Amino acid sequence: MRIVLVGPPGAGKGTQAAYLAENLAIPHISTGDLFRANISQGTALGVQAKEYMNAGHLVPDEVTIGMAEDRMTQEDAAGGFLLDGFPRNIGQAEALDGFLRTHDLKLDAVLDLEVPEDEVVKRIAGRRICRNDSSHVYHAEYSKPKTEGVCDDCGGELYQREDDSEETVRKRLAVYHSETEPIIDYYKAQGLVTTLSALGAVQEVTARAMQAIGRD
Ligand code: AP5
Ligand code: ZN
Repeated sequence: MRIVLVGPPGAGKGTQAAYLAENLAIPHISTGDLFRANISQGTALGVQAKEYMNAGHLVPDEVTIGMAEDRMTQEDAAGGFLLDGFPRNIGQAEALDGFLRTHDLKLDAVLDLEVPEDEVVKRIAGRRICRNDSSHVYHAEYSKPKTEGVCDDCGGELYQREDDSEETVRKRLAVYHSETEPIIDYYKAQGLVTTLSALGAVQEVTARAMQAIGRD
């Protein structure tokens, strides 16, 4: 299956993607995680991306689209993938359509995670991620690690993302409304969108998502 997850910052895209990708045995492709891996490795791409991310802006399409396409053409993505955080504007959605057409592929579903803004603020304020792998995600209240400050998966140190400051989160939300939300209508025109509530326990949201794609 080929699925796109859309939703505001802190909606729980990364959290859901981890479970869905495992259930569906497809790779979880997060452009945010790819950028953060580049930042921690100190690559040129990471240096470039960091500035945009910490300001709450989108990283330019020229950089992002190539990186996403490289990842989607890796061997493990041949049987399908779950995209988290890509596409993020109309230009990226059009580029993805072009990529799929070239490879004679189609998207199966776009899942739109809906969550009120006050909940987003709570989720982001308490989020802690792992130094070794930013897809290892916790929450100080809702999803605590067994030992405080230590990743259950790999023992890495947990920390707060630099772009999770209040000011940057406000900017990221504004960018989501102006740049990313329009892709929901773009995909509605293709009949691909299911909107689902991202409120409730993580497992409840996963069950809704599995139902939306006919795998419940
Ligand atoms: P990215 O990393 O994609 O961030 P985002 O879209 O802002 O989303 P988040 O990672 O903040 O949230 P999430 O929805 O994954 O929530 P999570 O599961 O962690 O992008 C970061 C930046 O990179 C962008 O601002 C941009 O600069 C750049 N970028 C990335 N992709 C790009 C692109 N395509 N083009 C251009 N630039 C790009 O959950 C949040 C918290 O809530 C966690 O603590 C979690 O434990 C908790 N939680 C989750 N579900 C629940 C639940 N059901 N109940 C209670 N708590 C929950
Ligand atoms: Zn970890």
